[in-house]
Parts: sequence; structure tokens; C-alpha cells
Amino acid sequence: MGRAQETAVYTHGHGEAVLRSHRWRTAANSAAYLLGSLRPGMRVLDVGCGPGTITADLAELVPGGVVVGLERAAAVLADARAEAARRDVRNVEFAVGDVHALPYPDGAFDVVHAHQVLQHVGDPVTALREMRRVTRPGGLVAARDSDYGAMNWTPAAAGLDEWQALYRRTARANGGEPDAGRFLVGWAREAGFDEVAASSSEWVYTGAEDRAWWSGMWADRTLAPGYAGRVRELGLADGKALEAVAAAWREWGSRPEGRFTVPHQEILCRRAA
Ligand SMILES: C[S@@+](CC[C@H](N)C(=O)[O-])C[C@H]1O[C@@H](n2cnc3c(N)ncnc32)[C@H](O)[C@@H]1O
Repeated sequence: MGRAQETAVYTHGHGEAVLRSHRWRTAANSAAYLLGSLRPGMRVLDVGCGPGTITADLAELVPGGVVVGLERAAAVLADARAEAARRDVRNVEFAVGDVHALPYPDGAFDVVHAHQVLQHVGDPVTALREMRRVTRPGGLVAARDSDYGAMNWTPAAAGLDEWQALYRRTARANGGEPDAGRFLVGWAREAGFDEVAASSSEWVYTGAEDRAWWSGMWADRTLAPGYAGRVRELGLADGKALEAVAAAWREWGSRPEGRFTVPHQEILCRRAA
């Protein structure tokens, strides 16, 4: 087991607006690059599982196997357990732990997966080394991360430029890497993987319903006490500036031509047999 520990602060926290975003996620919209590699009976570890909607989907895709959802934030596991119970998914279990020091023996899993986690951790290379260690020889490590610096939208909006700059500064000050997607291949090679398959995919929000959901969620997240408090504590913006960012989100959401793209990079890394 590794001995390193998390040093980063999780920028988003697990407030209602953040969970609204996480609960929308499915294996199909967030882990499609991995699905062709899953087989019945596999043992899968889902690191940083959050409220567990992707985790439950993965469990349904490995009947006769087991998926373990691991989280550093113990409180959110109540949501993850409730989600699995609501869907009557029984081959899933949850545990508290830190990806820098996974509480499992070498080679314990066929697949180790992390969705939008490496962007938040203090040492992503150590995290990937640990994910590799607990993967059996011949097994897979799969990671997908967004790239905040590459996010783009129409129409142009100065308030959203400010949102992007502020979020990236805050995430870096918290010890994470908001542009993680673009670094995944390099981190995986540094972690010791020779075989790394890279791909990319996007979330795109357009149309009235998607725009209202995405913009409302970000307006609320911008003003949520955890994020807003941290931004103010870091001296990066005051309450008035945060209100202006939230208003820019609502304004963007009201524009019929509005479109927002969230680019992601993905890696599938084979542990040498
Ligand atoms: C953006 S959320 C993603 C949740 C889920 N994978 C999804 O996509 O819906 C990142 C999650 O990683 C967790 N996390 C952050 N650092 C971690 C660490 N060192 N070890 C395990 N989990 C961690 C956070 O608590 C948070 O729930």
C-alpha cells in the first residue's frame, strides 16, 4: 500500500448544486471509452465515486462480478449507497479511502476507474501508480478528466471568461490541476504505463432544457458557501464579483443560440502482464 496522502482541497465540495451535476452522470455519458473492455465477473474499483451513479452503472455491466466505489469524503457514500439500493444493484460496495494510498493488496482488481478525480488530487502520478498497483497484470486503469482551460461556449460572455479564470485559479490554489485532461497521457507514462490508449469526448449543452440545467447549476455552484467562501478566503474575488459571475451564467442560459462544450481526455492503460 502507498503511504502518500491527499494534500489538495476538493474544490467543488458535495453541496446540492454539485451533486445535481454528479447525479446526471452515467457510464454511457461519462465512461463510454471503457465500456467495451468490461466483462461479466470482473472486479472493478471506481475511485472517487462521489454519489455513485456511474458506479452503479458499472456494476450492472459486470454481472457476477463486483464494483467497489471508493471515496475520500465519507458523507457522500450515503448518497451512493442509496442510489444502489434504489436501483436494486447488489454487486456494489463502498469504502472510504484515499487514491494516494489505496487500502487493497497488489493486483486486487481487473479494472480501476476514475472519472474527474485526478484533476482534484495533490499528486496525480502517485495516484495513477497506486491505481496500477492494485490492478492485476494484464488489467486496465481507466481515467477521464475534463480540461477547464479548453472549455468553450457561444455566445461570448465576459462574465463566463471571469468564471473560467476564477475557477482555474481556485482549483490550482487548492492543489489540483483544472486542465488535467491534457496531462493524462504524460502522468500515466510517468506512473510506469508503457501502453496508454488516449481518446477524447465531450459533453455539449445546447437547447433550452440543457442550457437551463447547466447554467442554473453553475450559477448556484458559484454562490454556494463552500466554493464562494474559498474564493473569498483566497482573496480571488469578493461577493459582488461572484454575483456578477452567477448573473452571467443566467444570462448565457437565456440565450437561444447558447452552446457550451466540456472537452474531456481519456486514457486506457494496460498493466503489463
Ligand atoms: C468531480 S467528483 C467525481 C465523482 C464521480 N466520479 C463522478 O464523476 O460523478 C471527484 C470526487 O473525487 C473525490 N476525491 C477527491 N480526492 C480524492 C482522493 N484523494 N481519494 C479518493 N477520492 C477523492 C471527491 O471527494 C469527489 O467525490
